[in-house]
Amino acid sequence: MNSTKPDVPKWLILSGLVLLITGMLFGLVGSFQYIFPGLFKQYLSFEKIRPLHVSSVVFWILFAATGSVLAYLQEHTKRKLFAGKASSLQLKLFVLAVVLILSSYVLGKFGGREYWEFPPPLALILAAGWILFIIQVAGSVKTLKQQPVYIWMWLTGAFGFLFTFTESYLWVFSYFNKDIVRDMTVQWKSYGSIVGSWNMLVYGVGMFLMEKISQDKSYSRSSMAFALYFLGLFNLMFNWSHHIYTLPVNPAIRHVGYLVSMTELFILGRIIYKWKSSVTAAQKNIHNLSYRFLVIADVWIFINLFLAILISIPAINVYTHGTHITVAHVMGTTIGINTMLLLAVAIDLLSDTCRSLKPYYPQIIRASWLANISLFVFLASLFVAGVERSRWQMSAQAEPFSQMMKGLAPYFIVFAIAGLMLFVSFSFIVFPLLKNTLSCFIQPRQRSIVEFKTAFDRVK
Ligand code: HEM
Repeated sequence: MNSTKPDVPKWLILSGLVLLITGMLFGLVGSFQYIFPGLFKQYLSFEKIRPLHVSSVVFWILFAATGSVLAYLQEHTKRKLFAGKASSLQLKLFVLAVVLILSSYVLGKFGGREYWEFPPPLALILAAGWILFIIQVAGSVKTLKQQPVYIWMWLTGAFGFLFTFTESYLWVFSYFNKDIVRDMTVQWKSYGSIVGSWNMLVYGVGMFLMEKISQDKSYSRSSMAFALYFLGLFNLMFNWSHHIYTLPVNPAIRHVGYLVSMTELFILGRIIYKWKSSVTAAQKNIHNLSYRFLVIADVWIFINLFLAILISIPAINVYTHGTHITVAHVMGTTIGINTMLLLAVAIDLLSDTCRSLKPYYPQIIRASWLANISLFVFLASLFVAGVERSRWQMSAQAEPFSQMMKGLAPYFIVFAIAGLMLFVSFSFIVFPLLKNTLSCFIQPRQRSIVEFKTAFDRVK
């Protein structure tokens, strides 16, 4: 137990956790606006709520992933971070960017593209913070010789994100925005690769945590682990093609992308599955909660693999494109895989505070069951609504859009209720982590205030 105040990597994870809960709140409003179109239209219309939701939860992943990489890098190198001051500047730039970005949405100031709808100049602040992250990772690694796979994943994810984030802004140049097919191909290519980049960071910290729990260094140096790495790299470069089946581009690109994106998930699932049998009962007990969330992520890898294979079949993709099935796929992977892996890491890194997390174990375990059941219902309701929507999209005598959306209301009600359960369950998981860490930081102050008051009373 220690009462030292959280260092910058932990503040990145803590701010990420706040963004996760805030983002889910916006998502909840969005789900109610599905049922009651026009709800909060005056101040927080769906046009504002969607980017508020999507950007907040994407920043949860970026904040928690960079914080976890910086924390585990110090554990791996057993040295302080290279250019330590850079990490507090990174945190400040990230927080500044997020505050300005979410405010621009509330004020209705857009100008960007999907996922980054905010005014493009704000992207420069984020990019500056990310460059500081790259300097710390590359500077702290020093050499690539004999390095485990997670070092390669962190470096590739760090550089890959900056490259693809920059690429996602090529539309500002007329050479791209004048040609719709080129513009959309580059746009979707960059998004697929941005996701591939942050997956490298998230899967990398997942691999480090598995090694830390089992004390077995063989996994992250195994040929299977490096196969996962090279497939992830290939994915980062080529999986985007399954985003653009509807665009007139060379069919070969599509088929390569389809094959690659499936194998990566399969290999990751297999590594976690194999690793599970190597963990002793004692280790499972010590790292009870982190182990639990790693196993949960493994289950969601296989569930999402099934949905991803389905919607990546070109003949099926034609029907699912632009429906709630795509949203189910995106939220299924970002919640079921990324968020569960990052929560496993956050529990590991935020457990060494002045207060034990043990009293909250039963609450977190119950909440994790509720989270998984509600996530399943949440995604299933989106999937069924998507099937109905795709039937409407393909039918010759399509009824008006508003009538079709009215017909989907029963699924949206289930979606909103499951979303509410998801929000409640994640709050019961996240709150103890925030409270435990922050109270260690606040307690010394409170003590001094109490001491001051008693001293003052004594003087009186
Ligand atoms: C309380 C739980 C949540 C609710 C009710 C919710 C609701 C929504 C809604 C209504 C949309 C807009 C779909 C549309 O375009 O029509 C959406 C999109 C999205 N949500 Fe959530 N969400 C929740 C949690 C999350 C979480 C935890 C994450 C990630 C960690 C997430 C990631 C996303 C992403 C990435 C999209 C964009 C999907 C796309 O590409 O179209 N959501 N969500």
